[in-house]
Amino acid sequence: MDLLKNDLLLRALRGESLERPPVWMMRQAGRYLPDYIKLKEKYSFFERCQNPQLATEITIQPVEQIGVDAAIIFSDILVVPQAMGMEVQMIEGKGPLLPNPVQNKNDLQKLQLPDVNEKLGYVFEALALTKKTLAGRVPLIGFAGAPWTLLCYMVQGKGSKTFDEAKAFCFSQTELAHQLLQMITDTTIAYCKGQAKAGADVVQIFDSWGGLLSPKDFEEFSMQYIRQIIDALKEECLTILFAKGAWFALENMARSGTNGIGIDWCITPQLARKFAGNNITLQGNFDPSRLLSPIPEIKKSVREMIDAFGTQRYIANLGHGILPNVPVAHAKAFVEAVKEYSLEIV
Ligand code: CP3
Repeated sequence: MDLLKNDLLLRALRGESLERPPVWMMRQAGRYLPDYIKLKEKYSFFERCQNPQLATEITIQPVEQIGVDAAIIFSDILVVPQAMGMEVQMIEGKGPLLPNPVQNKNDLQKLQLPDVNEKLGYVFEALALTKKTLAGRVPLIGFAGAPWTLLCYMVQGKGSKTFDEAKAFCFSQTELAHQLLQMITDTTIAYCKGQAKAGADVVQIFDSWGGLLSPKDFEEFSMQYIRQIIDALKEECLTILFAKGAWFALENMARSGTNGIGIDWCITPQLARKFAGNNITLQGNFDPSRLLSPIPEIKKSVREMIDAFGTQRYIANLGHGILPNVPVAHAKAFVEAVKEYSLEIV
């Protein structure tokens, strides 16, 4: 094991005592930083992901410029469908487009269970290079999309508020849906193990669309697959599970064996703790739009958030990804407010 100068995140996830909570921001790499926006003019989105030097540079920007306590590798959840053989385009200002979505058995048969070293080796290289460049400054987080969220894009073919076509696929071609979910799960397990081997200390599973499902459907189409992934990673790395909008499943998620659970801003810290129980680390839950408040308001709300979660078994974060229009000074104020909190309680 390498020695980390700042291991707050790992200690928080292991339930060890903390002098203050660690802080990082979902989607902190890219999006709002001027140095990233400059790189966007030169390279396409997937070029940025596939070039380990570029990915490393983007990953480290928020560590150096914002002072977060963890780095999250610059990549995307949609590299997994790509590795399984689907075409994925990233349209500027619009988001992802998969021009040939999965609609029937024939489409499913065209997908492959990839050799992750061959198809996603560039992510492993980026992790290894980032780990080396960080030189122990902060822990490194890898990530993957949850099978349900990836199915949403693979079937719907693009972003959606309801993912109705993805749901229709699950509810009308249920057996095919489960075959697809299992293929994604098997690929994701190999992918996440590879990330841990390449240097990721923690892997976060993003189920961005988990909250679109009813509690019963969440268990059937999402949670049973997430559980397989978390189980497979037990010996490999620490894990965080973030299922946006799925507060109804907090108790279920806490039983999965994951080390941490991401919380969005639609539930109070007190209720989240009540549902999840005391033996798990919670992460969240600042409303990303609240970073558009004046700086003194941001600092006050961060203090209130930590008061409510407590300083132990807690990771300060947003309740979803940082928005592209957040001023850098406001992102910094968020991080500083967490760091200042410990000084106030002494
Ligand atoms: O956290 C990080 O900073 C690491 C990088 C990261 C990206 N995507 C880079 C990215 C992470 C963790 C993701 C995860 C991701 N990607 C999710 C789950 C998290 C969430 O926000 O719910 C989802 C649903 C996607 C799919 C995706 N990728 C969408 C919907 C979009 C377009 C809109 C958007 O979110 O910006 C992307 C593009 C994308 N992925 C960008 C970045 C920095 C913006 C495009 C660009 O910079 O050119």
